Amino acid sequence: MLRVAVVGATGVVGETILRVLDERNVPVDAIGRFASRARDGVEATSAQRLREFDVVFFASGEDASESYAPELVARGTYVIDNSSTFRMREGVPLVIPEVNADTVDARQRLFPVANCTAIILCTALAPIRDVAGLRSVRVATYQSASGAGRAGLDELFAGERAIARGEDEPAAAAFPRPLARNVIPQIGSFDASGYSGEERKVAEETRKMLGLPALFVSATTVRVPVRTAHSEAVWIETERESDVAALGAALAAAPGVVYHETGIVTPREVEGTDLVHVARLRREDADASRRFALWCVGDQLRKGAATNAVQILELLLARGLVE
Ligand SMILES: NC(=O)c1ccc[n+]([C@@H]2O[C@H](COP(=O)([O-])OP(=O)(O)OC[C@H]3O[C@@H](n4cnc5c(N)ncnc54)[C@H](OP(=O)(O)O)[C@@H]3O)[C@@H](O)[C@H]2O)c1
Repeated sequence: MLRVAVVGATGVVGETILRVLDERNVPVDAIGRFASRARDGVEATSAQRLREFDVVFFASGEDASESYAPELVARGTYVIDNSSTFRMREGVPLVIPEVNADTVDARQRLFPVANCTAIILCTALAPIRDVAGLRSVRVATYQSASGAGRAGLDELFAGERAIARGEDEPAAAAFPRPLARNVIPQIGSFDASGYSGEERKVAEETRKMLGLPALFVSATTVRVPVRTAHSEAVWIETERESDVAALGAALAAAPGVVYHETGIVTPREVEGTDLVHVARLRREDADASRRFALWCVGDQLRKGAATNAVQILELLLARGLVE
């Protein structure tokens, strides 16, 4: 008997978790849907009700994860948390099943799901790390509106509608500037060094997931007026000499990756899918044997959040840890 709860069931990630559980035929016997308040088919979240479940997905915010997850974990409930609350905790694995399933052990009950941009990046970079090592990563992102939740998506649509009708645009609230017909080079707040919260997460979590604590990572994260799926332009320096053929072969053979040897791939083409697409792999210049550039794209609601979360449950089921 597997009882699963989704906290944040009315949000864009929560509803995607429910869809992915169904699509992948995860053998769930009972499912509870929770949000900040009750409505049709959805209960208000309470610690008491969550104790009745074997696995609890959190797709809400840091507040809910902080309030409910520690007690559940202490009781032996499996918690799979999409918020950033526990990601950088020592001894807590940050699992991408295709990349580091070996970090899961039988005692672990808490599974944070990493930042969506970092998951897409690491899925693309792990095969390269394996064949040539990685010394540095520089990345510029093109992140979609739904990365800021339902409010972000609604704000983009409202802005697009207002512009199309020649009306005044609603004031920006989910983003620091209006997003329609714009790009915004700020996701999260800036620290004294000038990096944003999202940029810090991408750097820290990429090092953790790739198991390379000394890896140099510099990110510029940018919001673009795309509905769903994040794109990333990436420049890497490998430890060892390599070439496009070898790195391309590694990408083509990697689980979870679609490698496009030629041509391009765009966010609209990958929306609603679960794989990370890599294209435009090239040497940085004709002589470069350790410096390469590439383009990667993935649906951040699915592989960057919900699908990765459900894959963690599937991994626990496959290992007999959750029955
Ligand atoms: N969007 C993405 O691409 C993405 C990717 C990776 C990770 N994440 C993370 O996933 C989480 C959910 O993000 P989202 O984009 O799905 O947000 P969202 O669309 O704004 O949805 C938030 C959900 O959380 C619920 N909620 C808010 N406060 C709550 C509380 N105190 N107790 C219980 N439920 C509460 C909301 O319920 P009501 O409807 O009742 O308000 C809603 O169901 C966040 O931690 C986010 O950082 C998001």
